[in-house]
Amino acid sequence: MTALFKHDKPDNRNVLDHTAQGIIGQPLTRPEGILKVTGNATYAAEYAFDECLEGVLVTAPFAKGQVNSIDEKSVSSMPGVIKVITDKRLTARAAQGTANEAPKQNVCEVHYWGQPIALVVAETFEQARDAAKHLKFDYTEDTDAIFDPEAADSETEDGATQQGDLAHAMKQADASVDLHYSTEGHASAAMEPHASIAQWDGDTLTVHASLQMLNYNITELADAMGLKEGKVRLLSPFVGGGFGSKLGVSQDVVAASVAAMELGRPVRVVMSRQQVFQTIMRRSETTQRLRLAADADGKLTGFGHEALVSNLPNEEFAEPVTQSSEFLYGGENRVLQIEVARINRMTAGSVRAPGEAVGMPALEAAMDELAEKAGIDPVELRLRNIPEVHPSEGTPFSSRKLAECLKEGAAKFGWDSGPRTPRMQREGEWWIGTGVASAARVHNVGEAKARVTLQADGTALVQTDMTDIGTGTYAILGQIAGEMLGMSRDDVLVELGDTKHPRGPGSGGSWGAASSGSAVFVACEAIAEEIASLLGAAKDDLTLKDGIASWGGQTRPVTEILDGKAITKIGHYEPGDTEDDYAASSYGAFFAEVAVNQWTGETRVRRMTGAFGIGRVLNEKTARSQCLGGMVWCIGSALTESLLFDPVDGHLVNCDLAEYHVPVHRDVPDMDVILVEERDGAASPIQAKGVGELGMCGGAGAIANAIYNACGARLHDFPMTPDRVL
Ligand code: MOS
Repeated sequence: MTALFKHDKPDNRNVLDHTAQGIIGQPLTRPEGILKVTGNATYAAEYAFDECLEGVLVTAPFAKGQVNSIDEKSVSSMPGVIKVITDKRLTARAAQGTANEAPKQNVCEVHYWGQPIALVVAETFEQARDAAKHLKFDYTEDTDAIFDPEAADSETEDGATQQGDLAHAMKQADASVDLHYSTEGHASAAMEPHASIAQWDGDTLTVHASLQMLNYNITELADAMGLKEGKVRLLSPFVGGGFGSKLGVSQDVVAASVAAMELGRPVRVVMSRQQVFQTIMRRSETTQRLRLAADADGKLTGFGHEALVSNLPNEEFAEPVTQSSEFLYGGENRVLQIEVARINRMTAGSVRAPGEAVGMPALEAAMDELAEKAGIDPVELRLRNIPEVHPSEGTPFSSRKLAECLKEGAAKFGWDSGPRTPRMQREGEWWIGTGVASAARVHNVGEAKARVTLQADGTALVQTDMTDIGTGTYAILGQIAGEMLGMSRDDVLVELGDTKHPRGPGSGGSWGAASSGSAVFVACEAIAEEIASLLGAAKDDLTLKDGIASWGGQTRPVTEILDGKAITKIGHYEPGDTEDDYAASSYGAFFAEVAVNQWTGETRVRRMTGAFGIGRVLNEKTARSQCLGGMVWCIGSALTESLLFDPVDGHLVNCDLAEYHVPVHRDVPDMDVILVEERDGAASPIQAKGVGELGMCGGAGAIANAIYNACGARLHDFPMTPDRVL
């Protein structure tokens, strides 16, 4: 019943075209869209359970030290209070993978301000919240907390690149730049806060939660609870945004589970917006040094990108700032390195496009300064530096439409490739300028399974634990099955976000569509094969279209072939050797026009064009929306988004959406997205690459370059707030 497809060599057959439905790629509206906009899609906190208790987390009001004791009696006589849960599992600090420490009796170590230390459970939410505010506890605060990455101990990440002699290349260069940049921490700022409802029936733990990667989350939760995976079920059919913040089981999931198992009643834990900001992982701030050396033609001879990032002590994740610098441009003398400073801020982890989101804007701003020094148009400079093969590994690229994106984007935007001098264009008190940047985001895939059932009535059912975090998974998986099985997308029912279904890597790292889509494809191929064998036809000769099977000049309705029976197959897609044989990445280019106010330094993005090569487009509308969303993130990270920490006690100061400024409608102009035609048979069996995060990989650099072109302010610190622009 399970069909395995191991992807060991590029597959450039037009794998999905032999069915000729023309459904793949169509800009079909999401099937669940109406449910969402009418409030009928049920999110994690919204399930109604009888006897459900409410839990509110209590968090540490200091950044480093220990909680010695918690005085449950201080709240136990308050109205509705059931229990104060002080289980040490609640205090696990990791949000990306579990890093539970062995519990010590009555002592809870605190590593960052806002770390959960207890859960107050009451009959109603208001009672729990009130009691949580009054809970007394005794703690010892250490005086040696460190908040400044520059002052902290740091270590070098493994995997640094040292190739040739960069210092020498810098000396010999006809044009070179040696620049320092900084970026501030970012929050995922998903609309739906982290929330869970846990139920324990004495045997199985069932948790409705808001999570991106159930297949990993079930292992993490089972580990934390000391249960076998088979005794845990996770459900996340709808997720109100993740952006990395829901990659791992968050503290609400563990807290609700501990409480439900202890109290024998369902327990709901919803984080407040402030708790989401203070407790859930952040994107590290960075400081970066870019060294670029070029010959007289603007060809790079040296490429240096070094970064300092931070995390808590003992956390493994380091913002992979240089990820696309490894391969985007050439230059035989290379230094790429990341240092991690150990500081007492909440866990640093993956926030949308980890690495590229902050590494590429700095690189692309440095390329703009190099273009100016070399006297070469910045689009042309980039075109001249696209390498033949991976500059340090020598592997070929699986596909790459960088040049096409730069050229098509420039044409659509109306890029003026003449001499670029700042302060050439004015409208009233506004300076107008334009800028360009490349986009790149490594392509990832993961092993995935999906069950597809061709029902006796000719409709289909797709089931997997894959999530839809607002990305369009329901839409595209239905399209792939519809295409393969010869039916309209509306005849395919897609069930997601439940660990009882076959599992895959979930939504993260922009791998969801290519991975789970390939699993659905493999299952459908197996179904088509079975139909072919029922007909005694060769599979490649069989076409399924509009409910009719055609082969060897004959036709027959599929329902007739099924004869009252359903066919169910599990597709099992496994990335194979192609992963190592090719450097796979999605590429693109951004063009931005800004207006900078001469008196206030306010920057408004007036228009933006993005051109992207993402392999096969599975749904033109949802792919475009992903790109648009990424470009909105570019505006935020270029101009406003910044986590601000108190230098004295280390608490996060701007912990809500009023103070942490994501772009609003008024900040976002009309934006053009061009999807460049591309198929990549090495990237995935369905020839698709990642798209979700690409749209924010570099675009903040285009905005920075446009600010310079507008008003002559060469800034090196993101976000470029008015005080910095002036
Ligand atoms: Mo993404 S930051 O891997 O959800």
